[in-house]
Amino acid sequence: TYLNEKSLQMPAKCENLQDDVESLSNKIDGFSEDDYLQIITNIQSCPWKRQAEEHEKFRAQLASCCDAVENFIVSKNNTPVGTNLSYEVESRKKIHIGESIFNMFPVSQPFMDYPYNQCAVVGNGGILNKSLCGAEIDKSDFVFRCNLPPTTGNISKDVGSKTNLVTVNPSIISIKYANLKDKKAVFLKDIAAYGDAFLLLPAFSFRANTGASFKVYYTVKKSKARQKVVFFHPKYLRQLALFWRTKGVAAFRLSSGLMITSVAVELCENVKLYGFWPFSKTVEDTPVSHHYYDNQLPKQGFHEMPKEYNQILQLHVKGILKLQFSKCEIA
Ligand SMILES: *[C@@H]1O[C@H](CO)[C@@H](O)[C@H](O)[C@H]1NC(C)=O
Ligand SMILES: *[C@@H]1O[C@H](CO)[C@@H](O)[C@H](O)[C@H]1NC(C)=O
Ligand SMILES: *[C@@H]1O[C@H](CO)[C@@H](O)[C@H](O)[C@H]1NC(C)=O
Repeated sequence: TYLNEKSLQMPAKCENLQDDVESLSNKIDGFSEDDYLQIITNIQSCPWKRQAEEHEKFRAQLASCCDAVENFIVSKNNTPVGTNLSYEVESRKKIHIGESIFNMFPVSQPFMDYPYNQCAVVGNGGILNKSLCGAEIDKSDFVFRCNLPPTTGNISKDVGSKTNLVTVNPSIISIKYANLKDKKAVFLKDIAAYGDAFLLLPAFSFRANTGASFKVYYTVKKSKARQKVVFFHPKYLRQLALFWRTKGVAAFRLSSGLMITSVAVELCENVKLYGFWPFSKTVEDTPVSHHYYDNQLPKQGFHEMPKEYNQILQLHVKGILKLQFSKCEIA
């Protein structure tokens, strides 16, 4: 019935979007890509308006559970020397924060210009190919990216080149950079593209992450590279996972995309998401690769992508953040 109503541009259709998105998340027969694409078609045909009150309300919820402003990154302030820090996922395991680890931490939260006005969270979806969103992304005050994606060469006109913070999944260090043994120079050359950005690692999520994360820290430090290595606070991530669990996202672990989106909603007045597209095709039915740089499929069962995406769609229809679904308008 939506398809018939679409041409009429009925305002009621736009008013019901919130209910429509929520009802998709409650569907018992699971996730259907076509249901999502139809709702997204409707969402795109309705005007988007920032709702400052909704944003404040949601930000207050996040601040009371998680408080990214103080707790998102491990700092000397929030983690005194001598702390026995519990891991995020293997929470019965602890790491003792002695002087040498403590000295890797920044004194306090390093986000000097908080709150930021306009932030871009750039996901890695193939939907960014030929999007021409690069210029718009680069105009943002703060640009978040995930897992060391390429930003140089021809792709920069689609994904931009500005980066203020980029997450690093420890598995990329072992797989792509051979644990920084043989491929240290390649790594240093690749991260040079991010200027003086923060490299953010989940050093204290799994015990197996710690060594690789510290290795990144020392590699960057010894080479006097401009990037600054920081670590996700495991307690922040645990509380964030509990928060999203109350909304129905019960994955083994949140994706870095949702972690960073949650941080951005707390740190920024305006948040725009690019390259978030967990579907195999566009609304016009053309195939989309999983990433803009390869077509590797996600690990099954690790994240709960449909549930996560549903929450992000809800934030979009509530006017808390804006998802860019299609090509960017060139001014
Ligand atoms: C951390 O653990 C060590 C060894 O189990 C213990 O001696 C120390 O008191 C603990 N520190 C704190 C702050 O609980
Ligand atoms: C960029 O695009 C041009 C023309 O489309 C092509 O000749 C060139 O090889 C590309 N460069 C890179 C780095 O992919
Ligand atoms: C996006 O670009 C990558 C790398 O050139 C390519 O492998 C992929 O197929 C492209 N995807 C789309 C949807 O054009």
